[in-house]
Amino acid sequence: MEIGVIGAGAMGSGIAQVASQSGCRVVLYDTNQAALDKSAASLEKVMRRLVEKERVDIKESNAIQSRISYVNNLQEFSGCALVIEAIVENADMKKSVFQQLENIVSPQTILASNTSSLSIASLASALTFPGRMIGIHFFNPAPLMPLVEIIPAISTEAVVTDAAKTIIDDWGKVTVLAKDTPGFIVNRIARPYYAEAVKMYDEGLSDPATIDWAMKSLGLFKMGPFELMDLIGHDVNYVVAETVWTQMYYDPRYRPSLTQKRMMEAGLLGRKSGRGFYDYREGAEKPEPTTDQTTGEMILHRILAMLINEAADAVFLNVASPKDIELAMTKGVNYPKGLLQWGDEIGVENILGILDDLHARFGDDRYRASAYLRDCAAVGHSLLTGK
Ligand code: NAI
Repeated sequence: MEIGVIGAGAMGSGIAQVASQSGCRVVLYDTNQAALDKSAASLEKVMRRLVEKERVDIKESNAIQSRISYVNNLQEFSGCALVIEAIVENADMKKSVFQQLENIVSPQTILASNTSSLSIASLASALTFPGRMIGIHFFNPAPLMPLVEIIPAISTEAVVTDAAKTIIDDWGKVTVLAKDTPGFIVNRIARPYYAEAVKMYDEGLSDPATIDWAMKSLGLFKMGPFELMDLIGHDVNYVVAETVWTQMYYDPRYRPSLTQKRMMEAGLLGRKSGRGFYDYREGAEKPEPTTDQTTGEMILHRILAMLINEAADAVFLNVASPKDIELAMTKGVNYPKGLLQWGDEIGVENILGILDDLHARFGDDRYRASAYLRDCAAVGHSLLTGK
């Protein structure tokens, strides 16, 4: 099978590698020759390392690299069964590429976007045949992250969804089906992990080192929210937060943090700029957390209650099935446990109690409990099974 990938940046290069490793021929296109050269060079480096670690042999490494053609002409996509677009996050530019592509590929070719924040329906609307368009959202780095969200738009034909899912499953990825709504599954449900952590910091309730300690030591999350924001970069993480919030018609549940915005504006982007919530410069000391169990549990349960509420609301609004929501958060952002199961274990009525207390105290609809959570608490049903 021949796969087209548009955009040879971080995501496009990773997606091309995944497809080639699964035996597909890949055509990788970029308007910038330097990006194509860099992509080929970095794949060569990755493959050399995998050979050194004896994860692939030389023959396989050569085959993976030779299956990818680096091209600067869209006409090369004429034989592709599926084309995945991963250019800059700009709707007009994406639409223009898809329109050019539609004149080149066969009527059966599936056209997909790796967009994180644009609606698939809006991209599909640029096409003569919008039914062939779907979202296929990989996580960074694509070769290592198992999860892929498959996002049919309102206009996507069912056969296209089935075919896209089958192809990505065959590449060894864990696929989940998500509704075409802001943030899809992961980028929607994960919002409070960051926002509620910064809000507690803003309130003076605790400091980044202590909040990170609570989430890691008591919650068993791999990284604390502040470490993770510093790693992702405040420019990237803040923009996702603001995009989800504005697309949700300014629902206070998704309201981002002014503190994070100021850090972005100040260029304190995290690890990549040497400073974020923590100082990564030479000789800087990492602050010590206050490891008080009671405070730690309060922090953990406040963030968890917000996350579980988001997962419950995603079930309520049919963003995805409960099973796919659990898979998305464990495989897409490495949460130690599915949030619905976690809510059941803590007790749905306990989660509701935390949210209602916060709602009463702050008078802020940010803490509005999902109707699904309230209903399950009222009749003693499980969030995971609804029974
Ligand atoms: P990037 O900036 O690393 O790469 C974009 C590439 O597209 C560049 O090489 C650029 O030369 C090329 N390009 C720009 N306009 C083009 C055009 N008209 N035709 C062909 N190539 C063009 O961006 P990145 O991070 O790889 O993101 C790409 C897409 O993937 C975006 O839609 C982004 O929202 C999405 N995404 C990004 C993730 C991330 O963590 N970086 C995660 C999941 C999705």
